[in-house]
Amino acid sequence: MLRIVTLVSGGGTNLQAIIDGIENGSIENTEIVRVISNKADAYALERAKKHGIDAKAVVRKEYPDKEAFHEALISAVDEVKPDLVVLAGFLVVLPLKMIEKYRGRIINIHPSLIPSFCGNGFYGLKVHEAALARGVKVTGATVHFVDEGTDTGPIIRQKAVEVQEGDTPEILQKRVMEQAEWIILPGVINDIACGKISLS
Ligand code: GAR
Repeated sequence: MLRIVTLVSGGGTNLQAIIDGIENGSIENTEIVRVISNKADAYALERAKKHGIDAKAVVRKEYPDKEAFHEALISAVDEVKPDLVVLAGFLVVLPLKMIEKYRGRIINIHPSLIPSFCGNGFYGLKVHEAALARGVKVTGATVHFVDEGTDTGPIIRQKAVEVQEGDTPEILQKRVMEQAEWIILPGVINDIACGKISLS
């Protein structure tokens, strides 16, 4: 059984896609052992609770400094001894110590075709605003391993999505989620659980 911890900051639709995949059997041999959010009111935590999954908030302002926050985050992950850490819309830069400890066992979903529209400052809706401003005709999503850089780790899977006339950032975000993110993230997790993608 692949034990995964999912780190979230917001609505948690990618988390929901993983939960659904496990429940409908398209993700085999996998258990979400904890969901961790850096926002106490993230709807993702409610989604976890509704499905009986351990849900924990680790919030920066509840700790005296960044170091204490990072230690709490790492402890919350360590406690449940995961095989894989999944960043699903987690908008906190990971502590270096955590990247070193879980090297090759952390994956992230990013809402563009890396190396376009990624790196510092490119997250959530901002990614789609930038894609529309540049006038690209195709965008998409990427699942990659996490290293010390922002969105620089080895790419595991990508899926392209067409931009359409009249798209707003919100419309494009929804299409990228439906046609790419909610497909490739569960797909990669299943492939890891089934040994088709190996973790280092
Ligand atoms: C998703 O689009 C995800 O790709 C993006 O945040 C959104 C979270 O939505 N992540 C990043 O931008 C990371 N750089 P969700 O909470 O509904 O899954």
